[in-house]
Amino acid sequence: MKNNHRINLSLLPSTSEVTEDGQLFIGGVSVSEVVNEFGTPVFIYDETHIKSKLNEAKKVWGKNVAYGSKAFICKYLVKLIDQSGIRIDVSTGGELSHCILSGFDPSRIVFHGNNKSVLELTRAISYGVGTIVIDSIDELERIEKLAVLNVKSEPINTMLRLTPGIEAHTHEYVKTGQHDSKFGFSIFAETTKQAVNRILSNTALKLSGFHFHIGSQIFKLDGYLEAMKVVAEFIKYYDIEELVIGGGLGVPYLNSDSQISITDWAKYIKDAAKSCGIDSKVEITAEPGRSIVAAAAITVYTIGTIKKIDNIRTYVSVDGGMSDNPRPVLYSSGYEAFLPNKMNSIGNLICRVVGKHCESGDVLVNNANLPENIEVGDLLATPVTGAYGYSMASNYNKVPRPAVVFVEEGQTKEVIRRETLEDLIRLDL
Ligand SMILES: Cc1ncc(COP(=O)(O)O)c(C=O)c1O
Repeated sequence: MKNNHRINLSLLPSTSEVTEDGQLFIGGVSVSEVVNEFGTPVFIYDETHIKSKLNEAKKVWGKNVAYGSKAFICKYLVKLIDQSGIRIDVSTGGELSHCILSGFDPSRIVFHGNNKSVLELTRAISYGVGTIVIDSIDELERIEKLAVLNVKSEPINTMLRLTPGIEAHTHEYVKTGQHDSKFGFSIFAETTKQAVNRILSNTALKLSGFHFHIGSQIFKLDGYLEAMKVVAEFIKYYDIEELVIGGGLGVPYLNSDSQISITDWAKYIKDAAKSCGIDSKVEITAEPGRSIVAAAAITVYTIGTIKKIDNIRTYVSVDGGMSDNPRPVLYSSGYEAFLPNKMNSIGNLICRVVGKHCESGDVLVNNANLPENIEVGDLLATPVTGAYGYSMASNYNKVPRPAVVFVEEGQTKEVIRRETLEDLIRLDL
C-alpha cells in the first residue's frame, strides 16, 4: 500500500488498498461501488479486520473475553462473535434482546448496567444469561427476590462490579473507575463486603468473580495497574474464578495518534495482576469494544455544499453529521477526513467538515486537511467510525440512520438497511 496520502493508512481498515488512480478499496471492493449500490451516508465495515481483532483478543485473553457490544451491535456482528467462540457483554435489556434474537448462546452473555430493571433481570434469568454483573445494593435486592422464584436447577451466576477509586486518563464522560461514579460498588465502602457476603451465603446465587472498568479510550495503561493494586487487596479474601478488567483500550483517531495493540494491552494487565500478587488460578479477562471494531469502519458521505468565507474559513457540508457520529459533539473527539475517490490529490485546503443538522455545533471535523480540487458531489470519508458511531446514532432532525455494509473478499453484505422516511414515522400513533 502506497503511503503518500494525506490520511495515515494505518487508520484505515486493514484490507484497505489504494489504486494508482487514487481509488480506495476495502475488502476488495471499491468505495464507489458500495456507494453506487447503497448510497450515502454509509458505514463500510471490513469483515476481515474485525475477525482478526476477535482472533487476537481470544488468543491473548482466552475464550472468556467478552466483546463490549455497546461499541456496535447488529445481527451479523453477533454471528461473527458467536463463530469466534468468545462472550458478549451487554449493558441493557435492549442489547441483551438483540443478542438473543440474533441466536447468540445466552450462557456466553455477560449482563451489565447500573440500573437493570426487574423486567430486564427477569428476562436475563429466564434466558439463562451466563453472568449478571451486580452493580448496586438495590440490584442485589432485586436479584435476591428473583432468585427465590428461579426454577432453573443451577444458581444464578453473578459478578460484582467494583469501583476502585482510580481516575483513568481519558475524557471525563468516559471515566468510570473514580469514587464519584454512578457505576459499581465503591471498594472502600463497608456495604461492598456485606454485599459479597450476602451473595456467598445465598445458595440460589453464585459469585464467580469481580469486575472493574475504569473508562474508555485509555492510552496511559498505568491506571489499570493502580486499579489492580486496590482490587487485589480487596479480592484476596475471596475464592473466585475470574477478574474482569472491563474494556477501555484506546485507539488512534488522528494521523498523529499512537497505538497500543490488544496483545500489548493484555500483557500489561496480566503482568500487573502478577505484580499485585493475584492468585494465578484467577482468570484475568477483559471486555474490549472499541479496540475490536473502531478502525474496522469508515463512514462515507457525499459533499453537498462548499461555503468559502473570505479570511475566515471554508465549510464543507456533508449529508450526515451529529446523528451518525455524535462523538465530536459529546467528547470533542477529533477525526481525520479524506476523499476516498481522490486519494492521490494534492494541495492543502484546511476546512471545517460539518453535517446537515440545524445546529452550528454539528461539526464532524474541525480542521480537516482536504485536497484543493474538492468539489460538490465528491465522496468524503471519516475513518475509525466503527465504534460508538452507529450505536450512538439518532434521528435528530428526522434524519434517517445510514446503511451499514460489510465487505470481504470482493463481496458486499448490507447488514443494516438505511432507514426510510416511513421508518421515521412508524412509532407515531
Ligand atoms: C462495563 C464495560 N465493559 C466494556 C466496555 C467497552 O469499553 P471499550 O469500548 O472502551 O473497550 C465498556 C464501555 O464503556 C463498559 O462500560
